[in-house]
Amino acid sequence: MREIAPTTALCGIVLHPAGHTRSPAMHNAAFRALGIDAVYLAFDVAPAALAPAIAGARALRVRQLAVSVPHKETVIAHLDEIDATARRIGAVNTVTWRDGALLGANTDWLGVVRALERATPLAGRRAAVLGAGGAARAAVHGLLERGARVTVLNRTVARARELASALGAAAAGSLDDLAGGRFDVIVNATSVGLREDVSPVSAAAIPAGAVVLDAVYDPERTRLLRDAEARGARVVCGKWWLVEQAAEQLRLWTGLEAPREVMAAAFDRAGQPS
Ligand code: ATR
Repeated sequence: MREIAPTTALCGIVLHPAGHTRSPAMHNAAFRALGIDAVYLAFDVAPAALAPAIAGARALRVRQLAVSVPHKETVIAHLDEIDATARRIGAVNTVTWRDGALLGANTDWLGVVRALERATPLAGRRAAVLGAGGAARAAVHGLLERGARVTVLNRTVARARELASALGAAAAGSLDDLAGGRFDVIVNATSVGLREDVSPVSAAAIPAGAVVLDAVYDPERTRLLRDAEARGARVVCGKWWLVEQAAEQLRLWTGLEAPREVMAAAFDRAGQPS
């Protein structure tokens, strides 16, 4: 760890529970690589403590706070400005201190887009987003923004329809509707597969030649991604979603280009059993 000086900037993430976050590892590695005099900590903030936590961040002039589950929607009420994209997505994952005000933004959508763009351009592609929660909302926004034709598929079809109509996706359906959809891009934005060897969809429904991104990053090679590879699809693991959304956070605060490979390596190390 570098030396902490009186001028060292404080950044962090608020979430609950805080046990599994790899954000401090990623951001601190980026600070070190870029020579930024800052430290990044994880703050375990229960829902009832969010308002005083944000007030405290304001008083302490915390430069940037990432916001994770379960605070991404509720934090909005405590900020001074929300950018148009975060408003449309209905969630803030980044709070940046600027000119005496707390600005809310959303970088999750760009994380999805940039992770996918490692493997494929998105304009005109047929994309399926699995899920209808906050992660799915960010994914749908990002894909639409890049000109993809988006279908929302969810276990609870009514939620898929609501999301599709709220953001202007082309279609909605159940997870079973993946079969026969001839999708070029598939994004898993459900929590299925998290520390469990299960997939939200059947392997046979994944088209060969598709690009599949899994928001689940633990394990790195989820059942969905292994099934996709076995079907001849290309895969992008959830790590890149997290690295890319964090890279954009760093850019919002410092204007600097993030050292993505350094952050990815730190992410990997933070996931190893200690
Ligand atoms: P987040 O905001 O993090 O995306 P969320 O709002 O809790 O989280 O959404 C979780 C998503 O995972 C939902 O789409 C949920 O489907 P439902 O809307 O039907 O609840 C999906 N999900 C969770 N467990 C699932 C399971 N066992 N099978 C299929 N989908 C599941």
